[in-house]
Amino acid sequence: MKIAMVSSEAAPYAKSGGLGDVMEALPKELARMPGNEVCLFLPYYKKIKENPDFPTELVAQFETNLGWRQQYVGVRRLQKEQAVTVYFIDNDYYFGHRGGSLYGAMDDGERFGYFSKAVLDAMNAIDFRPQVIQCNDWQTAALPVYLKSNYQTVFPGCKSVFTIHNIEYQGWADANFFDDVLGMPEQYRHLLTMDGSINLMKGAIECCDAITTVSETYAHELLYPYYAHGLDGVLSGLTWKLSGITNGIDMDRFDPATDSSLPCNYDQNTFKEGKAACKAALQKELGLPLRPDVPLMGMVTRLAGHKGIDLLCYSANRMLREDVQLVVVGTGEGQYEDFLRDLSYHHPDKVSAQICFNLRLANLVYAASDIYLMPSKSEPCGLSQMNAMRYGTVPVVNATGGLKDTVPPVNVAADAGLGVTFQSYNGDDFCGAVLRCLELYSNPAIWERIVNRDMATDFSWTVPAGKYMDLFCKVVGC
Ligand code: GLC
Repeated sequence: MKIAMVSSEAAPYAKSGGLGDVMEALPKELARMPGNEVCLFLPYYKKIKENPDFPTELVAQFETNLGWRQQYVGVRRLQKEQAVTVYFIDNDYYFGHRGGSLYGAMDDGERFGYFSKAVLDAMNAIDFRPQVIQCNDWQTAALPVYLKSNYQTVFPGCKSVFTIHNIEYQGWADANFFDDVLGMPEQYRHLLTMDGSINLMKGAIECCDAITTVSETYAHELLYPYYAHGLDGVLSGLTWKLSGITNGIDMDRFDPATDSSLPCNYDQNTFKEGKAACKAALQKELGLPLRPDVPLMGMVTRLAGHKGIDLLCYSANRMLREDVQLVVVGTGEGQYEDFLRDLSYHHPDKVSAQICFNLRLANLVYAASDIYLMPSKSEPCGLSQMNAMRYGTVPVVNATGGLKDTVPPVNVAADAGLGVTFQSYNGDDFCGAVLRCLELYSNPAIWERIVNRDMATDFSWTVPAGKYMDLFCKVVGC
């Protein structure tokens, strides 16, 4: 099948979060399947352009119109022999002269409206005619609408699949964005309109042939106001085309047996010694007491409200009455950064707050910790709980979204389950789950079995990629 994948980010070219990881791994996995031809389209951000690791060649250039504007489109192909063909959309005005961050500009709506249209023009220009176009989040949400409104004759029979990773950002713009920027036929206005404004994600949801999100549970949750940030009503009317496919992780990239950022590699047979060595190294690096026996709890996270940091704030002092160590790595909202610095100041022998973004340290925390905390308020999928389990670290999670789907609760009697879960978003339940997990930890025989199961679980992309293929076949009708 000919598949186009369109995203505002994909590792290693540009990444701000989980979307970047997914768009690195999923296209690769699909391209590996016999009979598939996969092209990935990304904006040509300044930092990609300036990176000598990513040489490109110009394969087409032309102008496209965006409302009343005429804008340049350069189509550049990555010069690398690999299964996925990567194309960058080059336009200095929108992507070339900006600083390091991918998003957050005043004209983000126009930038990504342009990107969505330019990708369609680019595919036409290079004569790549996909059977399905897979789009991700609001930045590519105008594409399924354009495909229906302006490109039916250019790509006859081509279908679109829209994947929601983050419903909090929907691409809101004021009402005249429709005429001023998008320039679509009048009958599409109401599909993009919500509460008197333009909402690009709503447009994609209405116009695409299938909507997916990144876990099965989250696909159900999206029908409720608590999770859907206003789009529950629209999605509830379209459940026939909504489904969830739980993400995988890159099992080669996240492998404690080969990870070069670890002082000691290990696998399922050697995790006891391996994790002990990593734990000692982390304790040493962070100035925590060198104690092999103490349960070490780790967190690698953006310090944002919905990651459940307020639950940690609420229950930290109670947890720290136990004989534990806590390491948190991340940056984010000032109030949480301050709280964690303060916590480590008052508990220097128990808490280390690393207010930074550091991939090496992150992997060391996955490896060195015994317990991984992820009390997210909502979580479309979440990847780090899977990374943690791959490294033999037992997660404590709120049973929501992808956390519920990837962390079945431990049942000692049945010798089953991968982590400890709690069911409602409050600090006492979270703390209760941590205490239950510590109880399990105190029994080495039970603990070892849980760790073994975590490390033996297949979190690879093989199964999810197969599900994407099944869905693509369904929409394409093959
Ligand atoms: C978003 C979601 C996260 C998910 C990721 C990749 O960042 O918040 O839960 O794992 O996208 O799909």
